[in-house]
Amino acid sequence: MNAAIYPGSFDPMTLGHFDVIKRASKMFDRLTVSVLDNKAKNALFSVEERVNILREATKDLPNVTVDSFSGLLVDYAREKDIHISVRGLRAITDFEYELQIAQTNRLLSKGMLDTVFLTTSLEYAYLSSSGVKEMASFGGDISPCVPDFVAKLIYEKYNNK
Ligand code: PNS
Repeated sequence: MNAAIYPGSFDPMTLGHFDVIKRASKMFDRLTVSVLDNKAKNALFSVEERVNILREATKDLPNVTVDSFSGLLVDYAREKDIHISVRGLRAITDFEYELQIAQTNRLLSKGMLDTVFLTTSLEYAYLSSSGVKEMASFGGDISPCVPDFVAKLIYEKYNNK
């Protein structure tokens, strides 16, 4: 059985992430989407909220499970006995950051964790969670960027502030 992890902050999941999830779920028998529990980052959604959003969005994808992790990705992957990490590449600006993560993971895992990149679909090439949050915070229309139920949750967060 070939399995992969799609790790990330997912604060929150965008349609760009969802596009990668759907495509990766067709390539692997089992895909674990895992939210990094990074206490240092000032997140809009708690890890539990992010996991719930991803679970709701992927409920019709039977081979996708959603989880969270803290610490090093290589340790988490070893625990799960998974050897492939999936990441989306939007534009050339992502490349250096992604290359660094991928090389670090390969080094730390002594070659046991490799990274597969999916280029994001063109309509999502300029989409980012931080851009979506900024648009929403100023009342912009984020409906082309995230599922409707997620847009509602984001607007709720900003109205509560
Ligand atoms: O969505 P993001 O924030 O770009 O995802 C980054 C992520 C979660 C993939 C990366 O920061 C990560 O794996 N962090 C866990 C800590 C770790 O393993 N660091 C070593 C590789 S840089």
